Amino acid sequence: MGQLDKLLDRNKAWADGIKSQDPDFFVRLSNQQAPEYLWIGCADSRVPANQIVDLMPGELFVHRNVANVVVHTDFNCLSVLQFAIDVLKVKHILVVGHYGCGGVKAALHNEGFGLISNWLRHVQDVRDKYGPVLDQLTSEQDRVDRLCELNVVEQVGHVCQNNIVQEAWRRGQPLTVHGFVYDVADGILRDMGLSIACEADRESTRQNSIDELVMRPVRAGRQKK
Ligand code: CO
Repeated sequence: MGQLDKLLDRNKAWADGIKSQDPDFFVRLSNQQAPEYLWIGCADSRVPANQIVDLMPGELFVHRNVANVVVHTDFNCLSVLQFAIDVLKVKHILVVGHYGCGGVKAALHNEGFGLISNWLRHVQDVRDKYGPVLDQLTSEQDRVDRLCELNVVEQVGHVCQNNIVQEAWRRGQPLTVHGFVYDVADGILRDMGLSIACEADRESTRQNSIDELVMRPVRAGRQKK
């Protein structure tokens, strides 16, 4: 009896469940994937991309790393971006942060250790850039949550600056970049109001969203009820 038999059993039951609803589902899927969305999110186990937005296999292309960071020289993330945009032709890129992110919290407090501290340095750059915004908040949790939001704004900016995205816009390919924050405490995904569909949108949206973030309460949602 293998230690992971439970997982294999659960996998079998899951696949059987889908086949009972739709016998050809996996055969169809094996021939192609045509997702409309690219999800760039945190690796945190509490933020499972497909489950949160209730999408089936084949409907969401996913890249996850600690603290949902988009680094200009990260070939992993860049390769995902290129494949998603140039080959799959996704229409939407969702950068998804989450409140209470351990990576963001560690970055805020200089708690990273070893290798990961180098990765979290990118989030510390966001922290340092928006120091005056964070300093206005008296609660510790608010500072962490605001940095989670600001990190999304920054990473959305990085996606938009990327030449793969810029090229797609130049050739008129429909592609919109969005910023969301997920709340582990209530399961709700909040739209941060960032929706950038062309170069002209980029700078105005970025500045407006930062101004708005400074004014509004932390965790203020835009999710329509
Ligand atoms: Co996280």
